[in-house]
Amino acid sequence: MKTNKLITLVAVLALALAACGGGSSDSDGSDATAPPSSGAGDAVAGADIYKGTCTACHGPDLAGIEGLGLPLAPSEFVSSMSEADLAEFIAQGRPTSDPDNTSGVDMPPKGGNPSLDDQDLLDVAAYLQAQN
Ligand code: HEC
Repeated sequence: MKTNKLITLVAVLALALAACGGGSSDSDGSDATAPPSSGAGDAVAGADIYKGTCTACHGPDLAGIEGLGLPLAPSEFVSSMSEADLAEFIAQGRPTSDPDNTSGVDMPPKGGNPSLDDQDLLDVAAYLQAQN
């Protein structure tokens, strides 16, 4: 009987030591491979939106088209505002009735594409800023 108790005690101690020992930690800080984000907009997605909606007036190289749309790169206007403010501007557009309109041509709300949602506008804003 005594011997059995001793063996049990030793076994319990051994288990306790095993549970505490071998302190190998898995955390080496190399988890999370999140993509870098400079803002809410995705410039890569924005490039597609630009091609689909804005190229017609602002040109494939963003240089603008005489009588249709102003240059967007290089552009003091684009580079001087935040991505969110630029997205908001694109949502509103700038009609000829606006005193800030210099070309005498309408910049239609959302570039004339009502299907663009808030994220699309942030994406295209991020794209424009990436070109400036
Ligand atoms: C139907 C032609 C047309 C389309 C399509 C269009 N724009 Fe414009 N955009 C204009 C015109 C014209 C102006 C200049 C208005 C003015 O004289 O102030 C302008 C101005 C702008 C400006 C301000 C430039 C500045 O220096 O003041 C931004 C930014 C802009 N457009 C972005 C876009 C984006 C982004 C799209 C696509 C989602 C788009 N536009 C689609 C015609 C267009």
